[in-house]
Amino acid sequence: MGREVHRIAYDEAAIQHRVKELGAEIGAAYPDGDLLVLGLLKGSFVFLADLVRQIQRPLHVDFLVASSYGDATVSSGNVRLVYDPETKLEGKHILLVEDIVDSGRTLQKLMELLRVRAPKSLEICALLHKHIATELHHPVRFIGFDAPEEFLVGYGLDHAEDFRHLPYVASLR
Ligand code: IMP
Ligand code: MG
Repeated sequence: MGREVHRIAYDEAAIQHRVKELGAEIGAAYPDGDLLVLGLLKGSFVFLADLVRQIQRPLHVDFLVASSYGDATVSSGNVRLVYDPETKLEGKHILLVEDIVDSGRTLQKLMELLRVRAPKSLEICALLHKHIATELHHPVRFIGFDAPEEFLVGYGLDHAEDFRHLPYVASLR
């Protein structure tokens, strides 16, 4: 038997409301230049799809695939880049979109990998931030929600690939 959803932390309406605000914030933060929104797969796919539709300025979308967790609920710290965007990052505003920041290991590793490609700017947008990240040495510029210190699923977030399709974010029993 798999684990069960315990409590809804952020319902569909709360998420949509916040994503709309974030889209406006991001649009205002980049008055000019090329903006490339880089979604970290798989966790960010739902958030990214909603978010880019709330950003009222030209942008491109690409993806990164990093692998770290496997089926565990704690980070192994072993970050691998499985898919690297084909798009050139040099001279562009890069906005990395992540589902959740936990230890911050994944993002720290990715920031290091991307920074050497000389983007014009490099920022992070995370739907959820647990604020327990000790490994990330870069502030998360755009945050959807300050998340509780629980394992969360839904709206793209999984546990062993389950629950990604839920339209809300919930904690696991
Ligand atoms: P970090 O490297 O420890 O910050 O882990 C980041 C990645 O771990 C996220 O992109 C998620 O895929 C996964 N993760 C961390 N916490 C959770 C959680 O509460 N629920 C689901 N996935 C999580
Ligand atoms: Mg995951």
